[in-house]
Amino acid sequence: MYTPAITGTGVFTPQDVITNAELVKTFNAYVDLYNAKNATEIAAGHLPAKAHSSEDFIFKASGINQRYVIDKTGILDPEVMHPLLRQRSDDEPSLMAEMALDAAQKALTAAGKTAADVDAVICAASNLERAYPAVAIEIQNLLQINGFAFDMNVACSSATFGIQAAADMVRSGSIRSALVVNPEICSAHLEWRDRDCHFIFGDVATATLIERAEDATGPYFEIKSTRCATEFSNNIRNNNGFLRRSRPDGVADRRDMQFMQNGRKVFKEVLPMVSQHIAEHMADNNVQAIDLKRIWLHQANKSMNDFIGKKVLGRSPEPGEQPNILQDYANTSSAGSIIAFSKYSSDLQDRDTGLICSFGAGYSVGSVILQKHG
Ligand code: COA
Repeated sequence: MYTPAITGTGVFTPQDVITNAELVKTFNAYVDLYNAKNATEIAAGHLPAKAHSSEDFIFKASGINQRYVIDKTGILDPEVMHPLLRQRSDDEPSLMAEMALDAAQKALTAAGKTAADVDAVICAASNLERAYPAVAIEIQNLLQINGFAFDMNVACSSATFGIQAAADMVRSGSIRSALVVNPEICSAHLEWRDRDCHFIFGDVATATLIERAEDATGPYFEIKSTRCATEFSNNIRNNNGFLRRSRPDGVADRRDMQFMQNGRKVFKEVLPMVSQHIAEHMADNNVQAIDLKRIWLHQANKSMNDFIGKKVLGRSPEPGEQPNILQDYANTSSAGSIIAFSKYSSDLQDRDTGLICSFGAGYSVGSVILQKHG
């Protein structure tokens, strides 16, 4: 048995930023266009008028200030309202592979390693650009990695489930190291015309290098324990799959082909599930609240994170104990907790303990207990 460790992480951040002000301006322009176009039906009571969004509501309800996206021009055009992503030819790298490659190279550099040191690639994300060949195998090819690669999807918990898979393989000795990459193009599965959720997501890619602790060339985080759990729920759902069809009436534009959620229920049901999961995981590993120097949580909603932080520590977290990045990145699905970890972990001291936890659709929850070395 070998000791698995996180030896490097990397984050790819797209260049386009959409502030709440820009987002709301476009959404409200779209609403005005829609209401004007459908004025007769609305006046006759056959169609409900759409309501404006508000910057105030978005910040208060979520804690989000802005989001990064691959393409803002389409999203901010009230006549388009989705990213304009060029269909790439089969001879070009896919968009997800390109984003993941950038993050992976940063993770390798942070660890002082090259692709030659990697045995496996896991592409763990909440949506995949195509069915096959696996995006992970494309990334493996672009990096010239020997070994194997595969895709997996556990929605917002993809990264922590991927880390568990990689850590277990490193621990058993079947591989020496793995890159877990999380390219999340959430802007393409968000319905930007839906007032209830148009502010939620952003795009990003993260990468985590997992190796045997003995192979680390600098400071590293020993993976002390991982734990994954799932429980079926329809409260976060996306029906877009390979059986995609038009509606029986022939209308192709089906709302359920994008992200759908019952946000209030998610809030109510996921919080106790996550709090209990973390408490049990910590107890089984003899980790007390007082031992936890940092918690890197999934980044969906600030109130949710505040609640979980308080439950786990038994008090309100001090600034910096539970870093949030969602004000800048919004919800980036599985990548959120890894961005927080990547940006806010290097200052931990030798033997400090921390915990990564993600949660989301499925429902799914994944936690990783880490100890810093060096
Ligand atoms: N602008 C202005 N008002 C808005 C609005 C917007 N964009 N969207 C909704 N509202 C209004 C609603 O119409 C409602 O008005 P009413 O009280 O007059 O009916 C009110 O604000 C509250 O709406 P609600 O949807 O209940 O808001 P909320 O407080 O539950 O917050 C979320 C919404 C999505 C931020 C919150 O439910 C959440 O974060 N849930 C968890 C989501 C999550 O983690 N999902 C995981 C995804 S991977």
